[in-house]
Amino acid sequence: MLSDNLYQRFAALVRERAGLHYPPQRRADLAYGLQRAAQQLGVADLHQLLALIERSPAAWNDVIAELTIGETYFFRNAAQFAALREIILPDLIQRRAMVRYLRLWSAGCATGEEPYSLAITLRETLPVDPPWHMSILATDINHRFLERAREAIYGSWSFRETPEHVRDRYFIPEGGRWRLRDEIKRDVVFAHLNLVEPSYPSPQLGIIAFDIIFCRNVLIYFDEATTQQIVQRLYDALTPGGWLIVGHAEPNIEFYRQFETHNAPGTVLYRKPLHAPPFIPATAVSPPSPKLVSPPLPASPQIVAQPTQLTLSPEAWLQQARAAADHGDWSAARMQVQALLKAYPLFAPAYYLQGQIAEHHGQLDEALADYRRSVYLDPHFVLGLIGMASIFARQRQPDAARRALGQATTILSQHPDDQIVDPFHDSTAAEVLAYINLLWQQIR
Ligand SMILES: C[S@@+](CC[C@H](N)C(=O)[O-])C[C@H]1O[C@@H](n2cnc3c(N)ncnc32)[C@H](O)[C@@H]1O
Repeated sequence: MLSDNLYQRFAALVRERAGLHYPPQRRADLAYGLQRAAQQLGVADLHQLLALIERSPAAWNDVIAELTIGETYFFRNAAQFAALREIILPDLIQRRAMVRYLRLWSAGCATGEEPYSLAITLRETLPVDPPWHMSILATDINHRFLERAREAIYGSWSFRETPEHVRDRYFIPEGGRWRLRDEIKRDVVFAHLNLVEPSYPSPQLGIIAFDIIFCRNVLIYFDEATTQQIVQRLYDALTPGGWLIVGHAEPNIEFYRQFETHNAPGTVLYRKPLHAPPFIPATAVSPPSPKLVSPPLPASPQIVAQPTQLTLSPEAWLQQARAAADHGDWSAARMQVQALLKAYPLFAPAYYLQGQIAEHHGQLDEALADYRRSVYLDPHFVLGLIGMASIFARQRQPDAARRALGQATTILSQHPDDQIVDPFHDSTAAEVLAYINLLWQQIR
């Protein structure tokens, strides 16, 4: 029995900890979910359940698992996926042409159908030659949903709006259900995150600088004040020009005032203005002197860094890694740079060094991906552009090589000739320009 007193205490608790809103008209839903959690946990009544969840995070997770609604399916809301293909991706493909890398977040991903639909759509839409890279972060508060998402086996109900040929291309039948192919599974990283907690945007958690955020049919469970705070944090987690897609039941335009509104057939899209300042996190790390413009962005979602354990500054750390590489101790250099990137995922020069190590070992694709990440983190990082040009030249892509060098030249022409722009070799802008000219002549 959910007495008045228990109703008030449970409602306050789930609202405070998970943002879930149970007004009197939803009291019966709360009672039902709590009864189920009590049964599962083997406690006799809801008084005992309250006492248990006060002291046991695992029991709390069971309550959350019963109270959250995971209704979802592949390609839910076809109009929004059409807008993704026809409006959002063409915009980003044009603006991100140099880096060829997109970052997405499915916030409130439930059992994974939404982020996997995003992965499939991107694979079908992004140009392939040369390839684009993507990282898709998918988060939810419900651990059980996340387990099922990682397993990626689905019943036919999940495909109720998926054309058969799409299902057949990406899933393998297995005992009356369908298993997602590994290559799509690998596109998505799942992590636990409570949207109500102000733990994001966060460079350490890799929750920052997204090009696209899908947060659909999640905000409806929160009260207005909570929704407003979450929308602000989603805004902060987008890059300028990044897109937010919310569910159809979440149309309160007031919450989205900071965004540009784009009307697409059958849906409304929100975009963070292009001129919005990039988010500068309090813990952002500066590249070594001289500092070039550096909008922060991690390379991939990594829920790992523990900055409090660090003793070295990233610059000093990078110098150590560089020294190891200069002495030919490549494995030490690689280990150092990997550790550095775990702790400072925004540090563009570290990706550059990692790219150089890969290039030295003939791993051209890996090197190119690292150089791209360095440029993504810092679009003015000329060394990254030169690294990209060198790989393009080796891969017989002269046009792409020239484009990257042209971009580096434009950036360098904005610096005084004697300004140091290469932190690794203390080279000036004029010296680097001379080097670019040399490279240019070698491209064929
Ligand atoms: C109805 S599903 C939506 C799934 C998917 N976005 C879609 O539209 O098909 C809502 C999801 O939001 C999650 N959720 C609810 N409260 C949350 C919170 N405080 N933090 C993160 N996720 C939450 C639930 O666990 C559930 O998986």
